[in-house]
Amino acid sequence: MSRAYYVTTPIYYVNAEAHMGHTYTTVLADSLARYHRLRGDRTFFLTGSDEHGEKILEVARERGEDPAVTSEYFSIRFRETWKELGIGFDRFIRTTDADHVAVVQSILQKVWDDGHIEFREYEGDYCVGCERFLTERDLVDGLCRDHERAPERRSEGNYFFKMSEHFDWLAGYIEDHPDFIRPERYRNEVLSMVKEDSGLGDLCISRPKTRLDWGIELPFDDGYVCYVWFDALINYLTAIGYPDGEDFELLWGASEHLIAKDILKPHAVFWPTMLRAIGLEPARHLNVHGYWNLDDRKVSKSLGNMISPLIMRDKYGFEAFRYFLLRSMSFGIDANFSEDALITRINADLANNLGNLVSRTLNMTGRFADGRVPAPDATGGDDALEQAVQDACAEAVASVDQYVESMEVHRALEALFRAVDATNQYLEKREPWKAAKDPARAASVPTTLYTCCEALRIIALLLSPFLPETAAEILARVGLAGALDSARLPEDAVWGRIPVGGETTKGKPLFPRIDPLEPSQQSQ
Ligand code: MSP
Repeated sequence: MSRAYYVTTPIYYVNAEAHMGHTYTTVLADSLARYHRLRGDRTFFLTGSDEHGEKILEVARERGEDPAVTSEYFSIRFRETWKELGIGFDRFIRTTDADHVAVVQSILQKVWDDGHIEFREYEGDYCVGCERFLTERDLVDGLCRDHERAPERRSEGNYFFKMSEHFDWLAGYIEDHPDFIRPERYRNEVLSMVKEDSGLGDLCISRPKTRLDWGIELPFDDGYVCYVWFDALINYLTAIGYPDGEDFELLWGASEHLIAKDILKPHAVFWPTMLRAIGLEPARHLNVHGYWNLDDRKVSKSLGNMISPLIMRDKYGFEAFRYFLLRSMSFGIDANFSEDALITRINADLANNLGNLVSRTLNMTGRFADGRVPAPDATGGDDALEQAVQDACAEAVASVDQYVESMEVHRALEALFRAVDATNQYLEKREPWKAAKDPARAASVPTTLYTCCEALRIIALLLSPFLPETAAEILARVGLAGALDSARLPEDAVWGRIPVGGETTKGKPLFPRIDPLEPSQQSQ
């Protein structure tokens, strides 16, 4: 049955280049989109750039530029970076795009007409880094918890979205839909934001043009522009054709937001209540991950400790970096980055485990099967050892599906590599390199090599959403170049589909072993 899948990343601020934090969320979204495309689902993958607001204006001023010039520059940098890294988004939205501006204004008008917005005087502590007024909970020793800078005291006449009117509904919704916000720890955090007296009230959604004119004008008061978060969140609707695009309802019903915990509140409180006022259901899931840290501090532009995905690509290859990101962060929990950990992971999983299986198998099809996938021996194929490999592959197919569904991609990869382990162990037991020279065992060699080629085919198919180039290369080496173009899960992962006689290629090592770094080689 064909289903739908709509996955979004946050739209990134155009005040810096992409770093590993942005790369993690984007690579994860890319992998999920690829997995669902492989399943035959109607899939849409959205990323983009968040261009309005004071944060961008500040950077433009520092650069002595018009904000339109700065945001255009960084937006193109993000887009080009993702393209260069092979990220297959369906749309790269910019909040300056004409269709987005029109949708934001139509929504503002609608919620204004429906009485969800009110004009008030307001005084509070504003953090330009967060682009919002802070509450007590956001402050540590008087400084913004995330940006480690003092907020500014501000007082203004502004328009407010009457968000708090929806808090009871939101708490009920979260309780009735236990996996709406996942993992659970973030759900509990949000419940306490809206339930207890957390100081979270209504949402100021305007900025007077006298102070900030880089934004979308309010349709009902041309003296103001729209608050950047109210504008930005709506991108998720614009991109799929709100209000009457052909697939809008289908895709919105299948929406999966990916974010890190830094922007939990806007996504878990502002956004569902905004949607309620607009007359739409919340997204299907809000999936929240932790931070990539370096020396226990969040990797971020404001802390100046960014790791560039382009530098990692040049040093280690992007597929290896991509694997590390997806495999080494348990979804929801912070992870620490170090190049030592990256190298250890690449060597253990990719060079030794997967790489060895590929090179041993294909070396031997070259030596013992004329460079072709051999036909399995009719008597050997149902032996318990062969059965164990088949079972391991079938289990990987089921586990990957289950873990992709529950947003535990690290576990999906772990499960997939259990099939790689099982196939390597099988090779160790069958010892085709010895069996070929032993008349009593030589007949088992075609079956052994067939089993390994077929396991590699299934492993590559399952790996393709996560490591697309590696998977395509493995498939090409077992005689199936281009197979991913028309592959489908789960049907193509059924055992026994590899064409016998397909030409195999030994090729270079997929992932050469990397020597551990000297301390002086660690890059920032
Ligand atoms: N523009 C807003 C989002 C608006 S969405 C309607 C924004 N932009 S951002 O450029 O600051 O990106 C924040 C997001 O980048 C995080 O939620 C996460 O997806 C990613 N990451 C940035 N730094 C990160 C880490 N150190 N670790 C993990 N992901 C992080 O907020």
